[in-house]
Amino acid sequence: MSKKVYICTYGCQMNKYDSELLLGLLRGGGYDLAESETEADLILVNTCSVREHAERRALGRLRQLVNLKKDKPGMLVGVYGCMAQRYGEKLFEEVHGLDVVAGPDAFPYMLDILNKAGESRQTCTLLGDFVGTGMKPHRLGNKLTAWSAITRGCNNYCSYCIVPYVRGRERSRPLEDILQEVQNAVQNGVREITFLGQNVNSYHDGRHDFADLLYAANVISGLWRIRFATSHPKDLSDKLIEAIATNHKVCEHIHLPVQSGSDRVLGLMNRGYSRKNYLDLVKRIKSALPEVALTTDLITGFPSESELDFQETIDLMYRVEFSGAFTFKYSPRPGTRAAGLPNDVPEIIKVQRLERMIKVQQELAEIFSKNLLGTTQEVMFEEKSPRNPRHVRGRARNGKIVEVDSHLVKIGEVWQVSINATQTWVLFGNAIKKIEE
Ligand code: 5AD
Ligand code: SF4
Repeated sequence: MSKKVYICTYGCQMNKYDSELLLGLLRGGGYDLAESETEADLILVNTCSVREHAERRALGRLRQLVNLKKDKPGMLVGVYGCMAQRYGEKLFEEVHGLDVVAGPDAFPYMLDILNKAGESRQTCTLLGDFVGTGMKPHRLGNKLTAWSAITRGCNNYCSYCIVPYVRGRERSRPLEDILQEVQNAVQNGVREITFLGQNVNSYHDGRHDFADLLYAANVISGLWRIRFATSHPKDLSDKLIEAIATNHKVCEHIHLPVQSGSDRVLGLMNRGYSRKNYLDLVKRIKSALPEVALTTDLITGFPSESELDFQETIDLMYRVEFSGAFTFKYSPRPGTRAAGLPNDVPEIIKVQRLERMIKVQQELAEIFSKNLLGTTQEVMFEEKSPRNPRHVRGRARNGKIVEVDSHLVKIGEVWQVSINATQTWVLFGNAIKKIEE
């Protein structure tokens, strides 16, 4: 009887994609997928180290999971990803009963490690040049959308960020290999691909840059939509803006983390751009892509952030009119440059600023939605609405969720939808015309 694996994933889209790569690899190595952790012979927890909170949650979960071994001798429990890299063998002390600690570049060694893991604890925290060439993900989500990692690691060393330390130097996967994966996905019914990287804009495989990749993916027949995340503002060139505008499959949504609106804080963060650079960039993007939705990441409570610095961030939010934002309280990460600065914004102030930011973003998202009233949006329908089984829902090109009440619309189809009602995060409308590719 074959063994069964269960993977539980924390963190970003890259981690979710990595879990799909792990599943693909393990299935090739004779494992089946377990429906639940109790049914599994092997449990892997794919972890995130970006903030302390994510690490604490993963540790809590791991301590629960190793308890399952009491009822199931021979079961293996492993930690994968960023936290495995950061803690290394110390994790065996933190979580008694753990069998495997494997960092984010351990893919090539995983089957071997798991074979040996029954006999002794296994650790692999080598960081190298792994880019995923030739690996085949086992996709878990809906059948229409898929991720594809095009770069791994990061060279930017933003002062607060642990990623360059736990995921290593930036490397790009060969263009041909990415296109092959997209083609395979399309053959299996995928219609929308999201290219992933810590900074997709600096993709370069030695011969091709990210704009080249967009042009090449745009002509894959059967593929309807191309998305990408994340874009670093310092590397979003005019050439790239043109590539986004020219290639009709590339959706008008750019996730462009600004982190702060204060030049002083941006300098301390080592972001490589000023507030003016960012606002100028936004102006260029909006003039090339008038329908664009811009989303962002924001950190509040960075060391020495004053009320005035914070107000500059709020002011920038209003100027850009983001359609959405991920907002975070600063969390010191040991070993980063910012961890050497006094963590001097009191927790209560951090919380209050975070709440203010969330409120502003809510207001902006509402404005963004209301401005779409009466417009026609191209929507790819992905699923039944979780709130109303008669409704089908999908995404507009700008990333907004759109729901329609129609028995004509089927999942997997793309329709023109005229928007007639809006909520902050969901738009409603009438499906007026089906679009063929
Ligand atoms: N504290 C809080 N937020 C962080 N991020 C990265 N590192 C930290 C940290 N130490 C946020 C940034 C980044 C997103 C993925 O996580 O906003 O863009
Ligand atoms: Fe972290 Fe900055 Fe790299 Fe993003 S660009 S992963 S925030 S170091």
